[in-house]
Amino acid sequence: MTKTTAQSNKETEAYEERKNWPPYTYRDYPDIKAETYESFLKFLDTENTTGRLMELQPWVSVCDSRCAFCYFPTTAASKVQLEPYLDLVKKELAMYAKTKYVKTSVFDEIVLGGGTPSVLSAEQIIDLIDFCKANFNTSKEYFIKITGSSKTLALSKIDKLAKYGVYQMDMGAQTFDDKLRHALCLPDSAADVEKAIQHARKLDLVVCVDLMYNLPGQTMESWETTLQKAIDLDAEIDAYALHVDPGTLLEKMIENGQSPPQGDSEVEKQMYLKAYTMLTKAGYKAVGHDRFSRVEWHMRENCLNGWPWGGILTTGAGCFMGYLQRFSYSNIEDINEYMKVVSEGRLPIQRLSESNDDEMMRREMSRLYLRLPVSKKEFQEKFGKLPEDVFPKQLQNLKEKGLIEIDDTEIRITKQGEVWKGNIAWEFATNHTP
Ligand SMILES: C[S@@+](CC[C@H](N)C(=O)[O-])C[C@H]1O[C@@H](n2cnc3c(N)ncnc32)[C@H](O)[C@@H]1O
Ligand code: SF4
Repeated sequence: MTKTTAQSNKETEAYEERKNWPPYTYRDYPDIKAETYESFLKFLDTENTTGRLMELQPWVSVCDSRCAFCYFPTTAASKVQLEPYLDLVKKELAMYAKTKYVKTSVFDEIVLGGGTPSVLSAEQIIDLIDFCKANFNTSKEYFIKITGSSKTLALSKIDKLAKYGVYQMDMGAQTFDDKLRHALCLPDSAADVEKAIQHARKLDLVVCVDLMYNLPGQTMESWETTLQKAIDLDAEIDAYALHVDPGTLLEKMIENGQSPPQGDSEVEKQMYLKAYTMLTKAGYKAVGHDRFSRVEWHMRENCLNGWPWGGILTTGAGCFMGYLQRFSYSNIEDINEYMKVVSEGRLPIQRLSESNDDEMMRREMSRLYLRLPVSKKEFQEKFGKLPEDVFPKQLQNLKEKGLIEIDDTEIRITKQGEVWKGNIAWEFATNHTP
């Protein structure tokens, strides 16, 4: 692969390699302890006075096939009885819905995640969303989003969901290159994915596709073709750099020579820059974690903008994006164990962390990773000091590198900072010495 002059300038050289994961993900949460659980229950018994809208995110962590790269804790559809599972997801939702905190919270998004909730019938999906609507407060303008894969999204199912009022379909397209799809154990063809997207777009649904780069054997041309296809289909795009996770089929395939390895960090960076250039040229804006968007509403999504003081209330086996102010949690991954715990009337949390002020200040700085500004006023109100008082070295260093800008009111990443947003977030992590 050739490096273009534009791509080999200073913005690509601030660090040796890009960090894709920010600090403080579920992988770092401690296993649940009796004291933290107690403290969480006490917190749930308080009123939500943040005034921030939240996201409700039940997971159907079930898939009908396993993609070679996937690290999500899902179970094969053939091994799950969906109806009893759904009953227990509702039971878990109901446990939260009864708490004072949730009763005084308002949700502006209901998102079925996973996994592949499209393994459910349209009726089962609608029933679960109806349950959420009946038991949680929604804002006047709220959005329903469903994760689905074209392999389980019959066109008639999309019709029913659109008619019901679903706003967005999230689809793991990954790549429109059939050779790569086959190598990664994606059972449906690029044409199938395209057909599902076209159908949903015709019904005016917003479609957000997950695309992956730096896949083994993926050329820059293949990546460009995939990006162009997504642009032509008028989809929103989440672009993820492949991380070969321990325990995945892909890891084994690479180890035993069945698959080539993925490209190095330079290849990955060039692919990110390719996406950034092509998509911004096509009118997309980089927002949030990994999103490229042309939909105005996505830029004001509340649960994103509210970080770290808002909340995502997630439920279901293996869910891991939950956070309610200082608390972050993930659920039991094994679906049978999850069902057992919920049926006994306990919250099925596996890992739970409660952040103190020091950690919350660091989390507040990770707004930069989400491409959001850090408001000096809010920081001062929450912690009684300014970010410059707490992180003088880090801020000075990032400013000198041209990765952030600081004015009287806020700190934000610069265009040069975009590519390094993961590294920027790590500058403020506890176990990182600047
Ligand atoms: C839980 S999946 C939801 C999508 C849905 N299950 C489907 O495949 O249609 C979320 C996305 O995470 C991304 N992902 C999964 N494993 C990954 C990995 N090892 N590295 C980077 N991204 C990954 C994929 O793009 C995937 O679509
Ligand atoms: S990428 Fe989606 S469909 Fe594939 S295994 Fe992971 S969760 Fe299931």
